[in-house]
Amino acid sequence: MRRSTATRLLTLVLALGATALAHAQDYPSKVITMVVPFAAGGPTDTVARLLAQAMSGALKQQIIVENVGGAGGTLGAGRVARAAPDGYTILLHHIGQSTAPALYRKLPYDPLKDYEYIGLVTEVPMTLVARKDFPPKDFKELIAYVKANKDKVTYANAGLGSASHLCGTLFMSAIGTPLTTVPYKGTGPAMNDLLGGQVDFMCDQTTNTTSQIRAGKIKVYGVTTKTRVPALPDVPTLHEAGLPNFEVTVWHGLYAPKGTPKPVVDKLSAALKVALQDATVKQRFADLGTEPVALDRATPEALREHLKREIDKWGPILKQAGVYAD
Ligand code: MLT
Repeated sequence: MRRSTATRLLTLVLALGATALAHAQDYPSKVITMVVPFAAGGPTDTVARLLAQAMSGALKQQIIVENVGGAGGTLGAGRVARAAPDGYTILLHHIGQSTAPALYRKLPYDPLKDYEYIGLVTEVPMTLVARKDFPPKDFKELIAYVKANKDKVTYANAGLGSASHLCGTLFMSAIGTPLTTVPYKGTGPAMNDLLGGQVDFMCDQTTNTTSQIRAGKIKVYGVTTKTRVPALPDVPTLHEAGLPNFEVTVWHGLYAPKGTPKPVVDKLSAALKVALQDATVKQRFADLGTEPVALDRATPEALREHLKREIDKWGPILKQAGVYAD
């Protein structure tokens, strides 16, 4: 009796294995959805659309971008954590994957357990920018003005867990002045209000601010990287401008739901590497103040290790700032 049960079990396992292998071999056989956990038109969306275009070519399969904004990126990230692990739903997310665990005590997913890791994509500098007619002419004046008008000044972000929220929290802690924050579903919509003068300033990624800065449509006070950004050579670092060691770089990674078969993850990681070497991707990233990561970082192991380090780094900082979303 036992033998026939063991035989049946073995047959089932072999059959399941053969099905998974067949699935992986003909993957991708239909359109892939790349979820962006912020509104269209923002920096994450910009990176995603460039990446999706180049990865589509490598996979010979269409990749469509779906914007799922809200709750600082956690709605979209949660959507992918719960998606079918078949390789047809992937997530492009950024540093917010590492700050959400400290901000959301009831986060409906675990960034270190509920995903398969495809690879790191790029690291994007941030810029402190303001509406064109904001009075302060430089960073020194900005600090004085913000402190003198702390009940009037408004700061835009994309919700708790967003990069703009993280940068804003660090900025307010550094100058010892809490400000009124205006949350959006992404810094794409926030930029529209900055251009229209409905909000005063924000910290946003160069992928969203470089063209507006160059066109003179917004003011810029500094970049949040250790060294100046080649695409914005005349903009000082905040460290130079008077905020010692202020550094925030928005890294981006590509994820799939936990349980996505390894051969599928490997195909996605291989396509990511091809995309990061694509001439158009490299040129557009450079125009927008960033660059693809080195290929040895566009791997599942590199992304998971980086994510773990960043969760360990930002957790204590955010807990000390006493910022919670729930
Ligand atoms: C976006 O794509 O809208 C931004 O990444 C939002 C943010 O993280 O600040």
